[in-house]
Amino acid sequence: MAFIPSPKQLTGIKAAIFLLALVPLARMVWLTVSGQLVEPLEFITRGTGDWVLYFLCITLAVTPLRRLTKMNWLIKLRRMLGLFAFFYAFLHFMTFFWFDHFFDVETMFRDVAKRPFILVGFIAFVLLIPLAVTSTNAMIKRLGGKRWMWLHRLIYLIAPLGILHFWWMRAGKSNFTEPFIFGVIVAVLLGARVYWSWSKPKAVAAAGG
Ligand code: HEM
Repeated sequence: MAFIPSPKQLTGIKAAIFLLALVPLARMVWLTVSGQLVEPLEFITRGTGDWVLYFLCITLAVTPLRRLTKMNWLIKLRRMLGLFAFFYAFLHFMTFFWFDHFFDVETMFRDVAKRPFILVGFIAFVLLIPLAVTSTNAMIKRLGGKRWMWLHRLIYLIAPLGILHFWWMRAGKSNFTEPFIFGVIVAVLLGARVYWSWSKPKAVAAAGG
């Protein structure tokens, strides 16, 4: 039988995930302030970029995992995981805006427009903002479930844009192994959703007929 946590256990699981999700940030801060890094800016930009992608994949994995294991309570972790993807995207963007451009909006936009791989990442980040803003229960109520679900389908655009950004960045070094692996992971996670949503009406129709 599938494991179902009690409300107290669920709170414990959420607290543990919350703390674990902050470990990469704590590590980056520690390595930077203790002077252990040769290139702290590069390390933080890449580190935060990696964690955006990890959290996007973990968040996208919740629904397939829930379906396969029948552990419906997993859905209660999805919002927090998605918000951590946004949190690391915000830090990733701020590292670029602060340390690369010293909060100069004009030079930042010029750089974004000049380097296509950054433009693609920037678009993905901008598209993540409405998802983060509408993640509260009050916003779900205000929008209505159907509209909220449509809006959150932006993830079908955001995740591939994140992969394209990563791929393009690595193109300069002809190092495609990691972008390829993450591309396959994202394709499987999004593909599973498409497959399930297409096969559902057929299953209902078959049951009805
Ligand atoms: C959903 C949004 C985004 C995702 C998933 C993402 C992901 C990544 C990943 C995985 C890397 C490479 C890390 C590595 O080499 O290990 C990276 C690098 C980078 N990203 Fe992003 N990114 C996003 C948004 C942005 C935004 C908004 C900007 C700036 C406007 C940006 C600027 C950069 C830069 C400058 C690098 C490093 C390039 C280098 O070191 O040569 N990214 N990003």
